[in-house]
Amino acid sequence: MDIRIFDTNEQLDQHAAKLFVDLVNEKPDAVLGLATGSTPIGIYREIIQACNEGKVSFKQVTTYNLDEYVGLAPDNDQSYAYYMSENLFSKVDIPTDHTNLPDGMAADPGKECVRYNALLEASPADIQLLGLGHNGHIGFNEPHEELINGTHVVTLKEETRQANARFFESLDEVPTRAYTMGVGSILKAKSILLVVRGADKAAIVKEALTGPITTQVPASLLQTHPRVIVLLDREAGRMLNSNES
Ligand code: GLP
Repeated sequence: MDIRIFDTNEQLDQHAAKLFVDLVNEKPDAVLGLATGSTPIGIYREIIQACNEGKVSFKQVTTYNLDEYVGLAPDNDQSYAYYMSENLFSKVDIPTDHTNLPDGMAADPGKECVRYNALLEASPADIQLLGLGHNGHIGFNEPHEELINGTHVVTLKEETRQANARFFESLDEVPTRAYTMGVGSILKAKSILLVVRGADKAAIVKEALTGPITTQVPASLLQTHPRVIVLLDREAGRMLNSNES
């Protein structure tokens, strides 16, 4: 694993954005796996700026997002479809029909998983962006005795609903279920970019990157992938070279 620690969020965001910009310039029809949450916002801001300055074009790029809440429509401002539109898609030159997320309003969630998974199987990502949940989840793959390879619906852990409640008016409004890309699909990406910020994630960063590979810490499975780049701020990386646990 290639682990890089940054002094400022700005440096981290610029570094991550450059990885995307360089990839798309090298391969204009690249397939990008994208993530939501607070972590990628600054990276998307830098990508938008590069696009607006004419340093890159997303016209031929295709994107697949990691996850979406079950029951939220794209015009619901808490849906990941809305987040992606607000934070990236509507601000770069990517055609809307090149952007893909699970459909939160699909009438038949089982069929929606099959549909989304077939898309992922047909075009694995050149790079998959990931954030990290406090319990080690990636996408919405929660800790479990076994992890599922393909796209599936998960019942969110209470701690995950609580962590994500900050984006909603109240905890009650946080959906209880979500679609997520499976860990198998995530690991099929040619390269993976894991980005983590904040002291509250220092312990899980250490566990995921240096602890045992276990389905109880889904991000620990990234240790099995040959090309993972990890970008951390100082706080998130502070336990990596210490005996603290
Ligand atoms: C959510 C998302 C994940 C994300 C995680 C961390 O649960 N489903 O994809 O990585 O939260 O979010 P944040 O970046 O806001 O800390």
